[in-house]
Amino acid sequence: MTSTTTPTDPLAGMVDKFTVDSAELRKEISTHTPIRFTDVGEPYLPLPAPFERFFLSPERVSDIPDDQALMNDIRVVRTIAGPPFPLPLIASQRWLVRERAEIIKLFEQFAKGVFRPAACNPFFVLRERQADTGKEIYVGQVTVGFDEGPEKRRTPINSAWEEWRNHRVWQIGAALRPEYHRQGIATAAVGVAMNEWAIPQMGCTEIKAECFASNTGSMKLWVKFGFVEDPELRGEMTIPEAKGGGVEQERAFIWNLK
Ligand SMILES: CC(C)(COP(=O)(O)OP(=O)(O)OC[C@H]1O[C@@H](n2cnc3c(N)ncnc32)[C@H](O)[C@@H]1OP(=O)(O)O)[C@@H](O)C(=O)NCCC(=O)NCCS
Repeated sequence: MTSTTTPTDPLAGMVDKFTVDSAELRKEISTHTPIRFTDVGEPYLPLPAPFERFFLSPERVSDIPDDQALMNDIRVVRTIAGPPFPLPLIASQRWLVRERAEIIKLFEQFAKGVFRPAACNPFFVLRERQADTGKEIYVGQVTVGFDEGPEKRRTPINSAWEEWRNHRVWQIGAALRPEYHRQGIATAAVGVAMNEWAIPQMGCTEIKAECFASNTGSMKLWVKFGFVEDPELRGEMTIPEAKGGGVEQERAFIWNLK
């Protein structure tokens, strides 16, 4: 039987930005965490000098076209193992639905006075606020999330710090629009994502990063943050024809809290 129903937009009714209305709660959150708030109450993590015009914030409904453009830019995704290419619109929309639910849960926890551990990193969209126009430009993403696979941690759970977790693996990834590459921006953004959020707020003590051996920029980035390649996790991936084909050598880098 064929369905005659029109597929509904998963983002129908969702407000563009997640915001916190209560000034009192915003103040409380900023006292206990590195989170700052814009005039309209949108939370964000600022980048340090000389990148003050950049910040990490939650995904907005209006980011969907930029997310699609990034994830469908062959110059960006040729060096990334996933997601599917081209990325269907519905995948971007469903990702945002999941993310919005996560951030709502996180801020409900804050409202109860529980600031750590944070169960997720909602601050994964990197933006630039243009000095002259005030316009906020979508620059890319720095994500920290659970690896979907069955893989176990390489190092034991740190019982003093993250016993509450299961043995799944935290994974970090970065992807910026090409015009922003090689200016130190990913280094600054990953520094904030790890040192301001994933480690102190989420309590991550082991983080994995994966990239192709041909991706010098990515490998340099992770090594700069103390990630060490694990030769046992080497692999090989056949790249789909849609992404240019060929075979890439996979590398996995692990960071641990020392
Ligand atoms: C990987 C990526 C996030 C790096 O972003 P970036 O903003 O260009 O990185 P930075 O400018 O902070 O540079 C980090 C280091 O890598 C080096 N680097 C960056 N790109 C490089 C390249 N193409 N070749 C050689 N070195 C490179 C930089 O010189 C710097 O090292 P240094 O501090 O020793 O000088 C960016 O290239 C990108 O988005 N690529 C497409 C997506 C991708 O491959 N993501 C990684 C998979 S997880």
